[in-house]
Amino acid sequence: MTFIKYAKIAFGVALACALSACNPAVVVEVSADNGQQYTATAPKKNTEMDQFINELISKMTIEEKVGQLHLLSSDWDQTGPTLSADYQQQIKAGKVGAVFNAYTASFTRELQTLAVEQTRLGIPLLFGYDVIHGHRTIFPISLGEAASWDLQSIKAAARIAAIEASAEGIHWTFAPMVDISRDPRWGRVSEGSGEDVFLSVEIAKARVQGFQGDDLMATDTVLACAKHYAAYGQAQAGRDYHSTDMSERELWETYLPPFKASVDAGVASFMTAFNDLNGVPATANNYLLQDILRQRWGFSGFVVTDYTSINELVPHGLAEDLPHAGQLALNAGVDMDMQGAVYSKHLPELLAKGKVSETQIDNAVRRILEMKYKLGLFADPYRYSDDQRQAVQVYKAEHLAAARDGARKSVVLLKNDNKVLPLSPKQSIALIGPLADSKADMIGSWSAAGDRQTKPVTLREGLQQRLGADAKIYYAKGAGYEFNDTDQSGFAQAIAAAKKADVILLAMGEKWDMTGEAASRVELGFPGTQEALMHELKKLGKPMVLVLMSGRPMTINWANDNLDAILHTWYAGTQGGHAITDVLYGDYNPSGKLPVTFPRHVGQIPIYYNMKNTGRPYEPEGPEQKYRSRYLDSSNQPLYPFGYGLSYTSFAYSAVTLSSTQLSSAGEIIASVTLTNTGDLAGEEVVQLYIQDKTASVTRPVRELKGFQKIMLGKGESKTVQFRIKAADLAFYDLAMDYVAEAGEFNVFIGADSTTSNQAVFRLTDTVQLPSAMAVKQFQRRDIQ
Ligand code: NOJ
Repeated sequence: MTFIKYAKIAFGVALACALSACNPAVVVEVSADNGQQYTATAPKKNTEMDQFINELISKMTIEEKVGQLHLLSSDWDQTGPTLSADYQQQIKAGKVGAVFNAYTASFTRELQTLAVEQTRLGIPLLFGYDVIHGHRTIFPISLGEAASWDLQSIKAAARIAAIEASAEGIHWTFAPMVDISRDPRWGRVSEGSGEDVFLSVEIAKARVQGFQGDDLMATDTVLACAKHYAAYGQAQAGRDYHSTDMSERELWETYLPPFKASVDAGVASFMTAFNDLNGVPATANNYLLQDILRQRWGFSGFVVTDYTSINELVPHGLAEDLPHAGQLALNAGVDMDMQGAVYSKHLPELLAKGKVSETQIDNAVRRILEMKYKLGLFADPYRYSDDQRQAVQVYKAEHLAAARDGARKSVVLLKNDNKVLPLSPKQSIALIGPLADSKADMIGSWSAAGDRQTKPVTLREGLQQRLGADAKIYYAKGAGYEFNDTDQSGFAQAIAAAKKADVILLAMGEKWDMTGEAASRVELGFPGTQEALMHELKKLGKPMVLVLMSGRPMTINWANDNLDAILHTWYAGTQGGHAITDVLYGDYNPSGKLPVTFPRHVGQIPIYYNMKNTGRPYEPEGPEQKYRSRYLDSSNQPLYPFGYGLSYTSFAYSAVTLSSTQLSSAGEIIASVTLTNTGDLAGEEVVQLYIQDKTASVTRPVRELKGFQKIMLGKGESKTVQFRIKAADLAFYDLAMDYVAEAGEFNVFIGADSTTSNQAVFRLTDTVQLPSAMAVKQFQRRDIQ
């Protein structure tokens, strides 16, 4: 049908040429950094696609062009402040190029029909959606997945999300979210991979590859979108949408690498962030969008704004009015306007006034049409809206099994005194807390089309299924978890349940919508009456185990001091209740490690492991206590450090050995440890390698993660674990913002978390300047236009 339409408007481009356009890019090697190849992608000369798109653009009116730049939400879901009642009318009028928050094969087909059948050129819509940690089958929230440190599992989760979403008509996911954040007050810390650059880079690549697969032309792959570009994770005071102001070094060293890694992995699109960065909001930031993303990194996909963020240039104080905002955004390099309708309303008049050029508009249109072409939508606009595939794929048994496995891997055992865990099926249980039997909470925020009412398996259900009909599970909700909950009338029932049981199992934490977008907090303790109930239950003197659910690090000092065991389970997803039960009973031995530091107090924030040392580092054992970098009323130390997590077995690390204590700029050394499982059970350990540049021309962090390996060992088994270290792993930005590895001494640490003191020393013999696609110095930044 579509083909006929294109034939009708005199395009001599055959179906076969659309189908043959599945090689999106040629990889051009630029340089090597951080031990990996950094590449820039240059579009492959695809004359068929180019010809098709050039001819199409030549037929388009200015209104049809700006229509392609307009992304509009359906009314099926609301993920921002505004909705347009007339989106279907606008589609029919050719004023919309892409739709989000619309899914199912039938609904996307219905909307696609409006675009294909009722507009003059019949250009298919692109359907986007926030498929973040699963589409229908929901995996643990992204921060939870990061706690698995299991890249294969994370990639597989993204793959399954793409399979389900694409079967329901989705072409494009607004993921991965690759914002580093070191502020757990910010609710969106739940959506990323935590505080660390190395881990976030690896996970960004895994997720892009998982969503996009090997071939965009395959109907089970979706376009990925690296967001929110850039530095959104450092919102001042942890308040969402707040401004960021940071040094160039901090930007390039900490916040940009996961975005660069996404480009290298072939990500199809970028989303601009809401925040102001160093005085220029990201959505009008020429430096970010043109200088870095297009010119330096060679990104050839398209850039979409976040929700109405062009409009927000006015309250930011950068634009006088909406036309001015549209001008700034287009000139900065934004291709597509999400929900704000600034482009569709104002670009024609801006063009007429000479404030923007038609070439700029054409370039933006071209980048969007290219993606539609690469997805095969010009050949068949309905190829993703497939009822049969939808019926087979969503909630498929193997997807549910993968979600259960992913959830088990994400669980972090924070405390386990006297081996209270794993539990024995013979023990009777008092299951207490507002999260014990709540389906809605189990899948967390940004759960796409995940069902919150019926599908998620609660902890209560998981326990009942594992323990059978005769199980002694005494359940009481007991406490409230809303911020304003003060009612303690449920305590009596909870205490009565606890009195009957051998073990008190608490399922407590945050309500699901206390994390995610617009979910900043100033206190990070247990909301409502939960902790008060814990205090009462403690008086019974029974073993107490906490299953903690939250999307961020919480301050849980009392629980840590008073409970016997704590499992952090994040929001574990559709199969959460089964997965947590697997861990509680030892059917799965926990292996997760924290991707983010847990503070003791909100006042310690930002707290992260790879900080600088200061000139007056605090040494608790040192002679001088006063004039040191410390708090009067708290330890400097976190409650749980980055990389931390226990197992039901134990592991011993040998001393670190080095193949040589001298590393030349062209050479490599091997750092090794022997890991031994010294406990009674098989288990997995994430072996972590950190490096510290002891003295450099610019001060360096106390240590930085540079490698990790997840190792499974049977009881009593040992394995030698090796890491290669090259000069590129030691590089940083010097004062001139050159990317260099400087001669001198380095500490290398290998151990179970970021506090390990298992250490050796080597020397880099010569300074080397690395050719770098991340290099800052070599290009000029331009003023905003
Ligand atoms: C706003 C959020 O910041 C972004 O992450 C999301 O993708 C869009 N809304 C669309 O829902």
